[in-house]
Amino acid sequence: MCGIVGYAGARPALGIVLDGLRRLEYRGYDSAGVAVVCDGDLLTEKKAGKLANLEKALAERSTADDDAVPGIGAGTTGIGHTRWATHGGPTDRNAHPHRARDGRVAVIHNGIIENFAKLRAELEAEGVEFTSDTDTECAAHLLAGELSRLRAAGEPDGPTLLATAMRQVCQRLEGAFTLLAVDAAIPGAVVGARRNSPLVVGRGVGENYLASDVSAFIEHTRDAVELGQDQVVLITGEAIEVTDFTGAPATGKDFHIDWDASAAEKGGYDYFMLKEIAEQPQAIADTLLGRLKENGEIVLDEVRLSDQDLRDADKIFIVACGTSYHAGMVAKYAIEHWTRIPCEVELASEFRYRDPVLDRSTLVVAISQSGETMDTLMALRHAKEQKARVLAICNTNGSTIPRESDAVLYTHGGPEVAVASTKAFLTQVVACYLIGLHLAQVRGIKYADEVAAVVDQLQEMPDKLRELLAGIEPVRELARELKAAPTVLFIGRHVGFPVALEGALKLKELAYMHAEGFAAGELKHGPISLIDQGTPVVCIVPSPAGRGMLHDKIVSNIQEIRARGARTIVIAEQGDEAVTPYADHLIYVPRTPTLLAPLVTTVPLQVLACEIAAARGHDVDQPRNLAKSVTVE
Ligand code: M6R
Repeated sequence: MCGIVGYAGARPALGIVLDGLRRLEYRGYDSAGVAVVCDGDLLTEKKAGKLANLEKALAERSTADDDAVPGIGAGTTGIGHTRWATHGGPTDRNAHPHRARDGRVAVIHNGIIENFAKLRAELEAEGVEFTSDTDTECAAHLLAGELSRLRAAGEPDGPTLLATAMRQVCQRLEGAFTLLAVDAAIPGAVVGARRNSPLVVGRGVGENYLASDVSAFIEHTRDAVELGQDQVVLITGEAIEVTDFTGAPATGKDFHIDWDASAAEKGGYDYFMLKEIAEQPQAIADTLLGRLKENGEIVLDEVRLSDQDLRDADKIFIVACGTSYHAGMVAKYAIEHWTRIPCEVELASEFRYRDPVLDRSTLVVAISQSGETMDTLMALRHAKEQKARVLAICNTNGSTIPRESDAVLYTHGGPEVAVASTKAFLTQVVACYLIGLHLAQVRGIKYADEVAAVVDQLQEMPDKLRELLAGIEPVRELARELKAAPTVLFIGRHVGFPVALEGALKLKELAYMHAEGFAAGELKHGPISLIDQGTPVVCIVPSPAGRGMLHDKIVSNIQEIRARGARTIVIAEQGDEAVTPYADHLIYVPRTPTLLAPLVTTVPLQVLACEIAAARGHDVDQPRNLAKSVTVE
């Protein structure tokens, strides 16, 4: 939610900041804006709508600029913002940066300042006139106020003053925030602060960067610094200084980014989503790489949990949101089957509010692609307060959720730019299988050879996915036929149920169509009355080889809906001829053990949603009202 970039160095800042915003636009696209410090002036430009609107405004401005006066393109210190609106509509006036009353300080913000109403009332009582409806503007006025107070008190001017003022402001703010600020009177410095919202530092040579995530500066440097909670960071071209909110020196954690700028480009595909769907075989292979030691043990990443902690676990909660929640639902089937530990899957946004029963012997698994989802982070913190152990599955190195967890398994999916999650889902499911196997192993329920056999089956998945993707064209054709359907239903049983939910979520999110997923057995308890003549129903059919009974039950369900006029789109295993008579459209997927089947059955549903959205003329990568990283509750 909101992407932010800052640059301090010797090169013109504007282009660098705009390039960074382009890579962060997935985080929000309600408006975009920049502020550049140039020759002692603060120059800003901001526009509602996507980044393209800002770029157009900047192009018009550069034509109109007086050549004798350095324009916004000349400054070498700058900040930029791409917004997902929370307080105040997506208008020009609510776009960031927000200037303070002195016109010399500019602030951008990601998060929500929860006490903004009180702060605003105080500032208005002092005579400050607000020019936006945002919570952020308070921070701009407070920062300018602190700067002038410190100057009046005789504090020496310069970058350190900016950091001191920012710390004072942070102490007055409640809620979640990443703030970046510049002051025209302090050229060459950008100050940042973070609480419950992401901010990473890029370490360059003679220049440094701040951003919501590393993709914003990956083309300039792959050396990054992870910041802790409640820290202020000051960058100039030469230095990076980190303190806590009281001014005590702090150190960030250095890390090297193991992917390059090309991973965050479309690479010839029309949409990032299509590229990310195509990357799934490799993403799974990378997530599995090096996970099985020679002695048969499964390897996690950062483990601050002992095997005894895992042996002591008598209950597992998986907490996650959206697609990651669906990955958790798949995991439940595998984890309970392999470990015999009761496993519940909870929407992270509900978890802490229902007062779950947690203690030292509860293992909480938090799944998040971004590692910044506020609902999941809050669920994790609640679990830790109750002394539960927390294990994270995450795709983003240096993000908050893995940092606050006791153990981490990174899904090495590479950057996922499209708002709709695809490769993140498949790699999360793989990570969950690995955790299930690891738990079964340390608890002595599975022998090394049994674990190795499942890992072998997982190792075969990349090839199966390649085969599936090579034959995906009929799904595209089907998408064109379904583009005008008023509703599409999805049904599945066992691990096919979360796949049905995921298929429906993708279609809602991308095509803005009514879609719902059901456990196939539930249809007769109500939803079957939705079925009308021609209603498309996507049916996820389990392997007849693995669980014959499951297969037969869903075939009966398909007959029931077909008898009521449904147009059935059946996803079944290659060679499953029992479904042929009941399928209006049949999509075969490679043969796969039942528990691993979501790794193949989900893929046609991703392609279906992507192609229907494109056929309906929607922006596939940036669907309306959404953002990739949801850092508010
Ligand atoms: O970054 P996270 O995995 O925590 O994100 C969770 C959800 O916001 C995310 O999966 C969302 O549902 C996707 N846009 C769905 O495609």
